Amino acid sequence: MLVLGIESSCDETGIALVRADGAALPMLLAHALHSQIEMHQAYGGVVPELASRDHIRRVLPLTRQVLEEAAHTLQDVDVVAYTRGPGLAGALLVGAGVACALGAALGKPVLGVHHLEGHLLSPFLSADPPEFPFVALLVSGGHSQLMRVDGVGRYEMLGETIDDAAGEAFDKSAKLMGLGYPGGPALSRLAEQGDPAAFKLPRPLLHSGNLDFSFAGLKTAVMTQAKKLGDDLEARKADLAASTQAAIVEVLLKKSMTALQRTGLRRLVVAGGVGANKSLRSQLNAVCAKAGIRVHYPELHLCTDNGAMIAMAGAMRLQSGLQEPTRAYAFDVKPRWPLDSL
Ligand code: KG4
Ligand code: ZN
Repeated sequence: MLVLGIESSCDETGIALVRADGAALPMLLAHALHSQIEMHQAYGGVVPELASRDHIRRVLPLTRQVLEEAAHTLQDVDVVAYTRGPGLAGALLVGAGVACALGAALGKPVLGVHHLEGHLLSPFLSADPPEFPFVALLVSGGHSQLMRVDGVGRYEMLGETIDDAAGEAFDKSAKLMGLGYPGGPALSRLAEQGDPAAFKLPRPLLHSGNLDFSFAGLKTAVMTQAKKLGDDLEARKADLAASTQAAIVEVLLKKSMTALQRTGLRRLVVAGGVGANKSLRSQLNAVCAKAGIRVHYPELHLCTDNGAMIAMAGAMRLQSGLQEPTRAYAFDVKPRWPLDSL
């Protein structure tokens, strides 16, 4: 079975083709990505209307490229999977519209996939895939969640952010420091040259006793610190970046370890854009090695949005029998869509 995946929920157009044979883990045959970062940079963030228009320009050329690379044609595709939500409504509509039009034209069924389920299952594309059950730390630009995952579609929310997501904390702090968009990678690069103990920043909800996160206060503390520094900000920027990153990473680390203790599980999966953060990875690796916990990540280039995770999640849902693809080509998108409602 060949599954074509289309991702267009935000600022990257991602297309991929996976092969799923029987119950074996699906295999990635080819994938292609176009990031809109350069286009949105001039505005300091994603402009939804520009994002939608760019997805329209990219989606078919990328599809052709992926099929060519995999030495297949559109007629070989058995199911077209697309991101149905959550994300920007206009951007989602492009992927959903193209997927359903392709399905209708080819007479092949289509499948709407949850973007976060894509992130969650993306480590199954790595050379060291996890096994169920595990605790998942899902940290992207819009979501910060700890989940208990017992199988495909069996997700129990353990805790989530009550305000900003971890990626948002990176992005907003970076913006305050004049580091541009997207802030996460820029802030973490600068942090490598700074002292993480230079500034005392709050660790929100660290000792709350539950598994929820809150990052809005951290952003305010960074802003206050930046104002206090005034003209000295430029010289101390790396220290402030390192201190901000240290605060976010410590909270994510402690809460993940608490989730593992509470569930008694011995496996952690980290997914979503913030999962690319080097400091988070090295600290988690060290703590988990000590505690005898296995940690799994997606390949670095599949941490942020991509089509491979959507094709993969679609294929795994089909294999698990959880969802039938449909030949009803009328579509809707779900800009807001809680993962544990699946
Ligand atoms: O998963 P993703 O690509 O998109 C969403 O579904 O939101 O995540 C994007 C987020 C952004 O907030 C970005 O700043 C953050 O992931 N990010 C990072 C790093 N790479 C991406 N944050 C910290 N360190 C990184 N290396
Ligand atoms: Zn994402």
